[in-house]
Amino acid sequence: MSHQMIVVLDFGGQYNQLIARRVRECGVYCEVKPFSTPLEELKRMNPIGFIFTGGPNSVYLENAPHADPEIFRLGVPVLGICYGCQLMAYTLGGKVTAAQEDSAREYGKTETFFDTACPLFKGLPEKGVSWMSHGDYMEKVPEGFVLAAHSKACPNVAIADVKRGFYGVQYHPEVNHTENGVAMIRNFLYEVCGATGDWTMEDYKKTAIASIREKVGGGRVLLALSGGVDSSVCAALLAEAVGEQLTCVFVDHGLMRKNEGDEVETAFKPWAMHFVRVDARDRFLEKLAGVTEPERKRKIIGEEFIRVFEEEARKTGAVDFLAQGTIYPDVIESGAGDAAVIKSHHNVGGLPDYVDFKEIIEPLRLLFKDEVRQLGRELGLPEYLVSRQPFPGPGLAIRVIGDLTREKLDTLRDADAIYREEISAAGLAEGISQYFAVLTNTRSVGVMGDGRTYDYTLALRAVTTNDFMTADWARIPYDVLDRVSTRIVNEVVGINRVCYDVTSKPPATIEWE
Ligand code: XMP
Repeated sequence: MSHQMIVVLDFGGQYNQLIARRVRECGVYCEVKPFSTPLEELKRMNPIGFIFTGGPNSVYLENAPHADPEIFRLGVPVLGICYGCQLMAYTLGGKVTAAQEDSAREYGKTETFFDTACPLFKGLPEKGVSWMSHGDYMEKVPEGFVLAAHSKACPNVAIADVKRGFYGVQYHPEVNHTENGVAMIRNFLYEVCGATGDWTMEDYKKTAIASIREKVGGGRVLLALSGGVDSSVCAALLAEAVGEQLTCVFVDHGLMRKNEGDEVETAFKPWAMHFVRVDARDRFLEKLAGVTEPERKRKIIGEEFIRVFEEEARKTGAVDFLAQGTIYPDVIESGAGDAAVIKSHHNVGGLPDYVDFKEIIEPLRLLFKDEVRQLGRELGLPEYLVSRQPFPGPGLAIRVIGDLTREKLDTLRDADAIYREEISAAGLAEGISQYFAVLTNTRSVGVMGDGRTYDYTLALRAVTTNDFMTADWARIPYDVLDRVSTRIVNEVVGINRVCYDVTSKPPATIEWE
C-alpha cells in the first residue's frame, strides 16, 4: 500500500524529528532525509511536499548545507522553517545577511501578526505567539514572494509564493510554544500539498513489521522486557513480526508494583514467542540487604539485572539481534553531553557488552512516547500497560527509604495500590504526570482504637511535568487526599501517618532516592 509522502529535509536543526512527528500527527506519512540526498532518490520517493528544517548555519557562509536547487523545479510545494526558510530565499534569488542590529535577531516567544489570506494561516487568528530562534535576516525576498507575517522587529517573519506553493517561516511551528503551529503545518499539508490524511498508526505498524521481517530474516532476537511501556510495545511489535524467533526475558526482581509482574506475563500470552520470566526476587533482596545509600542501591540493582539477564541469555544460546526499546527522546537525551549526574538512571542500555549477539535493533527509535503508546494500542496491548506512567528501573527499592525488607516492600505495594486506585477513581490520573507512594524510614506515634501505635510514615508524591527535568507538585483536592489517607491507615498494616509532598523539582527530585 502506498501513501502520500512528505519528505523532511534535515539541515541539522534540533527539532527535526519533532517536525516529522507533527506531520504524522496530521495523518500524513513522512520521512526525514539528509539535506544531501540526491535529487533522483527524492524524486523516486514521489513526495507531495518538502519541509526544509532549521539548522545551526548561516546560508551565506562557505560549507553551509544546501539542497539540490532542482527541488524547486519539481512542481512540489516546499515549506522552509527557519534555516530552511532562509535557504529557500537565498536559493531563489533573495538576500540573506547576518542581522546587523540586535533588534532584528529574534529568540524566544515573539508576538507575530499573520496574513490570514495566506493558505498557511487560513482560518487562524491574525495575532499569536511564535517561537523564534534566528540570527539571520532576509534583507530581500525572492521574486514572486509576498510577506505573509511580521513581528515588531521583523517585516518578513513569513514569506509565500502561493502560485508555486513555496512558503517560509522564520519561527518554529513544530514546537509547543508557537500558538497554532500544528494548525499551520496542517494547512501546509492539506491546503497546499493536497494531503488526504491517508496515514494512520495501523499503517505505521504494518510498515514497521515489514521492515523488521526484512532485517531479521530467519535470525533470532533477544529482548530484555521490563514491563514498562517502551519495552512492552517493542516486545509486542517484534512478536508480531517474527513470533517464535523472539525471546523476551522478563526479570522479576520483586521491586515492581502490586500485581505488575503477573500483568506483564498475562499481557504477552496472546503471542507465540518465548517468554521467560525469571524469578530473581530472593536474589535481589539478598544483594540489597542492609544497603541504605541510594546510589549503592541503584548500582547493585543495575549490575544484578545484567547478571540475571546474562545468565538467561546464555541459556538461549547465541542470538543474532539484541532488541532495545529505545525511543526518540532517549536518543536526544543521550546526546546531551556531560551534564552532572544527579542520579545514575538504570536502564538496560549497558547490556550489549555482556551478551553474544551480532547487531542491535531499536524498532521504536523514531517514535515519541505518545506515539509508542498509540502503537501499543494498535498491537492490542492492554490499556494498563500502554498508559503506564514512568517507573524507575530500580523500582520500589528507591521508594523504600533506607534498608529494604520484603515486609516493607509489601507494605509500600499495598499503600501505593490504594493511592493509584483513588487517583484513578477521582478521574485525576490523566492530569498528573507521575504519582506514587514512598515508604519513609521514619516511625512515629499514633493511636488506633484504644492502643498506641508506633508505625511508619508514608509520603504521597504527585507531580505535573512536560519533560521530567522540572516538575511541580500536583494540586490534588483535599477530599481525595483525605480518602487516600484514611484508606491507607485503615487498610495497610504498619502505616499510621500519611504526608503529602509539596516540593517541586528543583530543588527536590521526583523520586525520593
Ligand atoms: P528524578 O527523581 O531524577 O526522576 O526527578 C525523573 C524521572 O526519571 C525517573 N527515574 C528513572 N527512570 N531509571 C529510569 O528508567 C532510573 O533509574 C530512574 N530514576 C528515576 C523518575 O521516576 C522520573 O520519572
